[in-house]
Amino acid sequence: MKTIGIMTSGGDSPGMNAAIRAVVKQAKAHGLQVIGINKGYKGLLEMDCAELSAASVEDLYRKGGTVLKTARFKDFKDPEVVAQGAENCKKLGIEGMVVIGGDGSFRGARDLTHAGIPCVGIPGTIDNDIVCTEDTIGFDSSMNIIIDCISKLRDTSETLDRCTVIEVMGAGAGWMALEGGIAAGADIILVPEVEFDFQKDVIDVIKAKKANGQNYFVIVIAECVFFPESNSKHKKNVNFKYVNELGIENVDKFTKKFQAESGVESRATVLGHIQRGGAPTFHDCVLATNMGVHAVELLNNNKSARVVVVKDGKITDFDIDEGLSMKKPFDKARLEMASKLNF
Ligand code: F6P
Repeated sequence: MKTIGIMTSGGDSPGMNAAIRAVVKQAKAHGLQVIGINKGYKGLLEMDCAELSAASVEDLYRKGGTVLKTARFKDFKDPEVVAQGAENCKKLGIEGMVVIGGDGSFRGARDLTHAGIPCVGIPGTIDNDIVCTEDTIGFDSSMNIIIDCISKLRDTSETLDRCTVIEVMGAGAGWMALEGGIAAGADIILVPEVEFDFQKDVIDVIKAKKANGQNYFVIVIAECVFFPESNSKHKKNVNFKYVNELGIENVDKFTKKFQAESGVESRATVLGHIQRGGAPTFHDCVLATNMGVHAVELLNNNKSARVVVVKDGKITDFDIDEGLSMKKPFDKARLEMASKLNF
């Protein structure tokens, strides 16, 4: 193998650049040429790419976003488009590809591998919803942003004896809400995977806490509690019908109803894309570097259709097909632990 390609695909996440840097540097150590594809699979179709030198990636270790840019490109589900992608790789001399992204990006990597271009995936997503790995590049950085934002919101809530209702990201999964909510000591955490009752699990809980002398409150809601299951990006929301029937189908309506029924003055905050920005944490810089190095070792040893993963705290790799077919059960016990802890 003489030349590999690298792309970032789907939603960006802090640490993607550190992974690009590690891939390029490790590839250079093996004497490989690296072609950076801009804007993921869309860029591959458009042959939007350039060679990456070691010097060009030197400063990327803590840069947020991804210098290769990214795109969500649904057309890559079409076998003809995949075949064109493989053809373009051949034209560019690309004999192996590193794809940094989430499970949608790994589907593309699997298909491109089947079309003749050996691919290796690196999990880069703030959602931490990839089944075969314990960690993903960007999750820790995003969690740190969430805990920092919630601390700030706590200050103003406490000052004014208010409740702050915070919507966090997480595509089709409640992991960000769960872990961010636990870390920031949220009074209530609502996720798409576990049904809730507005009266019993929200209003009654806050009233009981108020009766116990608590004056300000934090509620964390995963954005996908308000999303339909039919939207392919948002896989499972057991609360969709319920929030619609109750007229609390977005965080503003939820907060207004909460204020009216609890008697606690309340404000809603949507953290939004701030959760994906900024420099990666120490943890994500190290994770991205280790994963980037491992990805190149796989390709250089003629292994493909693998995802670099963390298993039992160690970097290893996993079959991409198997990884994509697995389902990640939501950790209900941790949610229950959080609600008991916060009473
Ligand atoms: O998958 C990462 C993510 O940030 C999700 O948490 C969120 O639902 C989605 O991307 C937002 O996508 P976009 O930036 O395309 O609006």
